[in-house]
Amino acid sequence: MSIIAKAVEQLLQQGAAAPAKPPVPDGPGSQASAVPSPRPQPSRLDPQPSRREEQGGADEAAAAPRTSRLRVELDLDRMRRMGLVIPGETSLIAEEFRVIKRPLLLNAFGPDPVERGNLVMVTSARPGEGKTFTAVNLALSMVSEQDVTVLLVDGDAINPTVPKVLDFNAGRGLTDVLSDSRIDLADVLIRTNIDKLSILPAGSPHPLANELLASSRMSAFVDEIAARYKDRIIIFDSPPVLATTDPTVLALHVGQVAFVVEAEGTGKAAIEESLRILGSCPHLGVILNKARRSTQPYDYSRYYYGPGLSR
Ligand SMILES: Nc1ncnc2c1ncn2[C@@H]1O[C@H](COP(=O)(O)OP(=O)(O)O)[C@@H](O)[C@H]1O
Ligand SMILES: [Mg+2]
Repeated sequence: MSIIAKAVEQLLQQGAAAPAKPPVPDGPGSQASAVPSPRPQPSRLDPQPSRREEQGGADEAAAAPRTSRLRVELDLDRMRRMGLVIPGETSLIAEEFRVIKRPLLLNAFGPDPVERGNLVMVTSARPGEGKTFTAVNLALSMVSEQDVTVLLVDGDAINPTVPKVLDFNAGRGLTDVLSDSRIDLADVLIRTNIDKLSILPAGSPHPLANELLASSRMSAFVDEIAARYKDRIIIFDSPPVLATTDPTVLALHVGQVAFVVEAEGTGKAAIEESLRILGSCPHLGVILNKARRSTQPYDYSRYYYGPGLSR
């Protein structure tokens, strides 16, 4: 059994015995900025029409002609009601993600950064285990850090749920960039009313979405994004490892993988098989999700950072 599979077992045992901590926001407060990070360059992001679309500033367009001016207004009240992390506010879920993000940020921008550590893929063995919920909350948590800018990529083209969680109409995105070389990444990025958060939607439905995400174009795209946005954290919400081959390809190109395990849900065999498949990424952490604590609802609670897989 790998080091990480053992750690998962340990987490599962510990999670079952942990005290109750429901992920419900409990009001405004301060935010952490403990992790060293670089000073990012001004953003050149943006995207596609949406229900809450607005136009960006003319100055920016003049300064960066290929920068699209798409922007969505995220409904913070709704997000708060949903129990998501709200940047700049303290809550129990924000506290959980503060712990989870720390090793990821250290690997990205700490004194001893890992190669492409700013590219973080969030995945799990199967659907419904909390990948999207985790990816969105990680992104929201990370923008609270001073000098950290985040690009959230909806990399699950078959079941793109980032727009559902954040409630916006997405339009074009990743599949369009991958299938049409005339579409530039900057044309489809979406800025948000959360200053340092931009989103790359999954894109138009495509009959060969799986193939696209596992293609050499996807590899080239990740290479491009790594070179272009060195200064920001790029979080990829991804399909389940055991459902398609896309995560395998993505795992080859990112610096870090956050593997979500659903407490009392993800089976041991599924975890081991997923970790074997993801073994190409040397920096893999495990997030235990939906740990039920006494009578309370779900909770994120543990993060195990694996410095490498022994296979
Ligand atoms: N920690 C959590 N607390 C509350 N609800 C959660 C949690 N994790 C996931 N969920 C819910 O479980 C469902 C599946 O989560 P989702 O992130 O969409 O899974 P996946 O992306 O792995 O398919 C969603 O309704 C989501 O809101
Ligand atoms: Mg999902």
